[in-house]
Amino acid sequence: MTLSEPIWLHVCDIDAIPRLGSRVMPHAGGDIALFRTEADKVFALRDKCPHKGGALSQGIVHGERVTCPLHAWNIDLATGQACAPDVGCARRFAVRIDADQVYLCVDDVDDAGDEAPGKTTEPAEPAAA
Ligand code: FES
Repeated sequence: MTLSEPIWLHVCDIDAIPRLGSRVMPHAGGDIALFRTEADKVFALRDKCPHKGGALSQGIVHGERVTCPLHAWNIDLATGQACAPDVGCARRFAVRIDADQVYLCVDDVDDAGDEAPGKTTEPAEPAAA
């Protein structure tokens, strides 16, 4: 193993995340939401909408997006980016699945505080109606 190889933190069995749902992993830097798609892909985002901080874990998962429960912004699960016309980004974390076990990249998680420079995007103003 070289120093540059990521270290993965075991989080849970994939079945601990409901299909088309989510599970929250508490973290000192802010909760992390793990989402499972219908196709059993798993994504991890800061559980904080880039609009006004709604809990994305309580949103509706469809395709590879989640719709925020507060004002219905759609967030791309792979990138954390709000879908146009909205603008903003939820912090994403690298996920690995191995033998139905879900792992998060420790480097990402250890540096997961909202205060980390360059790691978060400030909430965007809502798009003009
Ligand atoms: S807080 Fe998520 S859409 Fe407004």
